Amino acid sequence: MSITILPESIGTYAEQFTTPETAMMTALGRETHMKTGRGEMLSGHMQGAFLSMFSQAMRPERILEIGTFTGYSAGCLAKGLTANGILHTIDIDEELHDMAYKYWEHAGVAEKIRQYTGSALDVLLTIDETFDLVFIDADKVNYEAYYDLVFDKLKPGGFILADNVLYDGEVVLPVEQQSKNARAIHLFNEKVKADPRVEHMLLPLRDGIMMVRKK
Ligand SMILES: C[S@@+](CC[C@H](N)C(=O)[O-])C[C@H]1O[C@@H](n2cnc3c(N)ncnc32)[C@H](O)[C@@H]1O
Repeated sequence: MSITILPESIGTYAEQFTTPETAMMTALGRETHMKTGRGEMLSGHMQGAFLSMFSQAMRPERILEIGTFTGYSAGCLAKGLTANGILHTIDIDEELHDMAYKYWEHAGVAEKIRQYTGSALDVLLTIDETFDLVFIDADKVNYEAYYDLVFDKLKPGGFILADNVLYDGEVVLPVEQQSKNARAIHLFNEKVKADPRVEHMLLPLRDGIMMVRKK
């Protein structure tokens, strides 16, 4: 799946006028590509810059991330945490823990990050926290369930960001041409749209980020 909806020249131009990725994050991206063969899954320069800037503007005390992978987005989000802030991040795949930890340590944020291994649906029930910011970036078929599970744990005025909500443009195809994941994402988008408890904006950055603010 290619995940850019912009013409390449515009994407390149936008990157040129965005604060460059740190050498550490470039190295993490490179190691992810080499070792996992699934480098397209990480947030990358532009989305990472957005997550980092959003978090630094917000200054959250508690962040929840569903879908750690190799730790790129967690590293970006953690930059905005308050001095006593904590980011909880969940992934079903334990293999990549060490890689993520190594880069968080270099970036000076490892102490603020708690990693959990397991199915997010199960792990979420064990984390007794309320959150300022939640980033959903795991299996698409469970986005609706994650939304329901985290909503009561989100503080009023808090944000949920959900990644891949354009699903490479598949969300606008007729239903019979959509993959199972694209269909699940479209239903998630419909759910957010119908929720009177929130304000929301679908930001067409990279593969689309649904920004949800709890009223
Ligand atoms: C797109 S990647 C996350 C990328 C990461 N947020 C970033 O930007 O660098 C999705 C991750 O979700 C994890 N995942 C998939 N299904 C899951 C589940 N049921 N529970 C927890 N994690 C899951 C995968 O193992 C994968 O590492």
